[in-house]
Amino acid sequence: MKRSSRITIHPEALQHNLKRAKQAAPNSKTLAVIKADAYGHGAVATAGILYEIADGFAVSCIPEAVELRDAGITKPITILQGHQSADDLRAAAHFDLRLTVHNDRQLSLLDQYSHQHKTGFEVNLKIDTGMHRLGFHPDRAADVFQKLSSHSQVNADQLILMTHLSCADELDNKITKQQLTCFADAEKGIASPTLLTKSIANSAGILGWEDSHSDWIRPGIMLYGSSPFATSHRDEHDLKAAMTLNAPIIAIHDLKKGDNIGYGATWQCPTDMKVAIIACGYADGYPRHAASGTPVWINSEEAQLVGRVSMDMIVVDISHFEDKNIQVGDLAELWGKNLSVDRIAQSADTIAYELLCNAGIACERI
Ligand SMILES: Cc1ncc(COP(=O)(O)O)c(C=O)c1O
Repeated sequence: MKRSSRITIHPEALQHNLKRAKQAAPNSKTLAVIKADAYGHGAVATAGILYEIADGFAVSCIPEAVELRDAGITKPITILQGHQSADDLRAAAHFDLRLTVHNDRQLSLLDQYSHQHKTGFEVNLKIDTGMHRLGFHPDRAADVFQKLSSHSQVNADQLILMTHLSCADELDNKITKQQLTCFADAEKGIASPTLLTKSIANSAGILGWEDSHSDWIRPGIMLYGSSPFATSHRDEHDLKAAMTLNAPIIAIHDLKKGDNIGYGATWQCPTDMKVAIIACGYADGYPRHAASGTPVWINSEEAQLVGRVSMDMIVVDISHFEDKNIQVGDLAELWGKNLSVDRIAQSADTIAYELLCNAGIACERI
């Protein structure tokens, strides 16, 4: 899609952020989470950029993994939602993909799989420790583990017990400790729990909960330079922006005190003002609910959004700029190296994940 806005991906930032994850959990192996087109950054490109540093990659579903294999990515790939059909199992066997088994239907599909897998599927057994999204009840961990260990289609030596944390981004939330205890209890019923390979931590777990590190970490959002915590800035975690969203100024106007701005005339100029119109709106992944006052970076200075976000334009107050410092054609940064995407997300009452994914869908990527 050709639009005036564009995103630039910063390879050195992606590599730096993955190294930060490894540094935070030095005894763990690293599964870089590149689902949803690497949170909008481009899965194939991101896998290539992280290839030498990651021990493997994680995606949501089989088609995402097939795209990576077709592009020549040969590293281990985990399917976080696992298989949904016999066709998925065939694809997983053909493309050598690690499954996640989280329900009985998936077990039945494995039982019914009629083609002998030559070495057995590599499988993560997912336990629901409290998020209630995917996973077996912890009471069933030992039974299902036993079933998978002795399954003719499963590589028993490669089983990984996993769970996912629901509240690790809130450092004072008791639920994370409860989930970790629940996971530890679930392990106890399994023969030789000390030899178990385990995977728990997302970005917030990696940076905030050392007890969650275990054998395999699964960093996602931190790879892209966003802080997983609402209470801290990316700089505090030494994370660097992996995506910059830019768009050009396409008009500059002088407005009078009392003039309305944008749809719904929700904003009136409190004094005479100069505004710039930037060719970026919700069709480009910029959040429609970004409030007046949301920062926009123009020529090394912060300006502020005024009025409603339109489909492909926003209006920015540039009254404080010297005339010579701002012109039609100048590129504004909506988020990126100078403005953290977390600030924009907060201002729009959403999360960076959503903004990055949406911009990745909408914009041309450089
Ligand atoms: C199972 C699982 N592990 C890890 C991650 C990565 O999480 P984050 O992006 O918060 O690091 C996700 C993302 O939602 C996930 O679903």
